[in-house]
Amino acid sequence: LRVLVLAGGLSYERDVSLKSGRRVLDALRSAGVEADLRDADVALLPLLRDDPPDAVVVALHGATGEDGSLRGVLDLCDVPYVGCDARSSRLAWDKPSAKAVLREAGIPTPDWVALPHDRFSELGAVAVLDRIVERLGLPLMIKPTQGGSGLGAAVVRDPAALPAAMVGCFAYDSTALVERYVPGMDVAVSVVDLGNGPQALPAVEIVPRNGVYDYAARYTAGLTTWHAPARLSAVAAARVAETALAAHAALGLRDLSRVDLIVDEDNRPHVLEVNVSPGMTETSLMPLAVAAAGLDFGELLRTLVVRASQ
Ligand code: DAL
Ligand code: MG
Repeated sequence: LRVLVLAGGLSYERDVSLKSGRRVLDALRSAGVEADLRDADVALLPLLRDDPPDAVVVALHGATGEDGSLRGVLDLCDVPYVGCDARSSRLAWDKPSAKAVLREAGIPTPDWVALPHDRFSELGAVAVLDRIVERLGLPLMIKPTQGGSGLGAAVVRDPAALPAAMVGCFAYDSTALVERYVPGMDVAVSVVDLGNGPQALPAVEIVPRNGVYDYAARYTAGLTTWHAPARLSAVAAARVAETALAAHAALGLRDLSRVDLIVDEDNRPHVLEVNVSPGMTETSLMPLAVAAAGLDFGELLRTLVVRASQ
């Protein structure tokens, strides 16, 4: 079995992806799998045609890696890969589209407005923001509709901070997702299918030291504390797991995903987003969940690549 781990790419999350790729590579090799790592660039095409691996692990984050385009190329070359297909990847990657599907399926997700930059400029920033605050209240969560790792995201508690937050977001995307902010516990639930159907691993609770889970808090050791499993009652933990599995299914995902949720003060889960190519770095959530489940990360990856190659 020869596995190719794809990492890097040209997205804003290139550095994160290189770390994820390296960790996946090391874990696969430690589980006895012959694996190589390479960047996803144009030289990939002749390689996939002339010397196709038995399976690919997509450790790319951000555009290309998560928007379905790379998976489309793998489909074209008839090379199997771990994870969902191109269509589901594109759906999960675009937050307003994914949220609409979740809501349609009865899965709670915070109220939102998708605001294209053109509209923002056309109608006048102040008028648009007033209308959004009137509709969604405060605080608000601002994020790029397509993106990850907290880049371009901000919590806005004071309307005076809203224009700057929008500008920060538009630096990453031409459309902003403006969401009602739900206070509560931040948790991530990794979903894996090792051959017996999708299962939810223990929820990981995220406690950033300065209260904001931004890029620095995600990838700098010591800036975030995790509790794995999350400090939830058995009933709340079961509800969170059930919601994560429902979100994974509603988006048509397979093999693995990570569902990010808020558990509100009444123990109700709200899905924020679903990641089809979850971070696998030393400070990422899925490897923590795998360890909390008592599983070996390399063995889990080996199972996934074996299944993908069959
Ligand atoms: N976007 C990062 C890699 C994550 O979701 O883990
Ligand atoms: Mg994400």
